[in-house]
This record gives sequence, C-alpha cells and structure tokens, in this order.
Amino acid sequence: VIFSDSNVASIQVAHEIADLIRSKQEADEQCVLGLSTGSSPLRVYEELVRLHKEEGLTFSNVVTFNLDEYLPMERENRQSYWFFMHENLFNHIDIPKENINIPDGTVEGDEVIEYCLSYEKKIKKHGGLDFQLLGIGRTGHIGFNEPGSHYNSGTRVITLDHITRVDAGPTFFGIDNVPRKAITMGIATVRSAKRIVLLAWGQNKANIIKKTVEGDISSTVPATYLQEHENCTFVLDTGAGSEL
Ligand code: GLP
Repeated sequence: VIFSDSNVASIQVAHEIADLIRSKQEADEQCVLGLSTGSSPLRVYEELVRLHKEEGLTFSNVVTFNLDEYLPMERENRQSYWFFMHENLFNHIDIPKENINIPDGTVEGDEVIEYCLSYEKKIKKHGGLDFQLLGIGRTGHIGFNEPGSHYNSGTRVITLDHITRVDAGPTFFGIDNVPRKAITMGIATVRSAKRIVLLAWGQNKANIIKKTVEGDISSTVPATYLQEHENCTFVLDTGAGSEL
C-alpha cells in the first residue's frame, strides 16, 4: 500500500495494532507483538503512546519481543535498542515490565547460543507472534538478517554487513564505534508471525523495496522471503514506492 504521507500511514498502522490489542482484551487473551527499531516505526510508537494517554488504550495484556540488539551492547548505552524502545514507547505506556523482551546484548561467549534458543522458545511459549512490525535495511535485511540469512534461520548471532554499519555510523559517532555483531530473530521467527507489516519511507529505500517486492526470492535479499507470507503488507510512502 502506497500512501502519499508517511504520518497518515503510520497512524493507520498504529490503529491496526490498537484494534488487535483491544480484540485480544475482549477475548481475555495476551497480545504478542514483535517490535522493531530504527526511524521507520517512530511515528507508529508516537501514535500508540497518544492512544494510551488520550484514549485510554491499555497495554496490560501486551507481551513484546524485539527483533534485535547489537552485540556487545549495554542497556544503558544510548545506542542500544533497549534504550530506544524505552525512550520511544515503553516508558510512556502501561505495559508490565516483565512482558518486555529485548535480546540481551551483554550475554557472552558460549552462553549466547543457549540464550538465543531460550528467546525463541519464549516466543513459542506465548503462542507465537500475533503481529510483527518491520523496517528494512538497505541490504534488504529485516531485523538484522543480513544477505545470506537462511529461510529457516532462528534467533542467533549475526555479523553485520558493512553497509549496515555505515548506515549506523552517524548514530554511533563513527563507523568504528558500531558493533560488528548483533543478536537477531531469524527469518523463520519473523515468518511465523500471524500478521506482518513492513514500513519503508523515503526515496533511499526505493531500490531495495523494488528488489524485495518484484525480485526473485533469495537469501541475497532476505526480505524477499516475505513474498511467501500469507498475511504481510508493505506500507510505503510515495518515495519508497517510487521504483515499483
Ligand atoms: C536497523 C534495524 C532494523 C531496521 C533498519 C532500518 O538495521 N536493525 O530492524 O529496520 O535499521 O532502519 P530505519 O527505519 O532507520 O531506516
């Protein structure tokens, strides 16, 4: 779906999420959300906060799993995805703290493998992701599933692509400060979500969106795997959709 205005698009996505949360509340069920960082979902989070503050939307039944985190990364670090999520969403809503799951960027050595498996198991224990919000990197990554990521991959450690580190450079005040690795949910983890919405704004995403939507399905552009998902929508603005 191509919108002329990314703000209008973001508000619509936020309202879809809010409707899902409310319907789960009516059914007395938890709502399991897969969440993303980056600039693309910011306006969606802003609208969810507004719905909480002004329209009484409660997140008491919401459980969240974030897609990824840099490795190594301390929570308190301003560049951490933990910090990003708290600053932009969690600090402003009534989600129970124990319901928030973000990959831990401080796990070390052999513990990481066990940790990634436990993250995956925890998602399954909650009945899987009801909704997954995604952005897309210029390499075609979703989460941090860089080119070469396998269709059946689960949560794991990944080495970041050079382009991804270049793009993250300004946030880290220089590419040398960008971690070389990350923990990311896998392609299979993302694919298992019952509903997926991918957001992309601006001309600089146009080329990767064209490859993702119209190109062959391949690990070279991991986001192409979404073509096979039965309930996935790409929400774009005119810039991001300009090469389609
Ligand atoms: C990072 C995140 C991705 C995100 C991407 C795009 O690489 N790990 O989840 O989709 O950035 O970021 P932006 O939305 O700022 O373009």
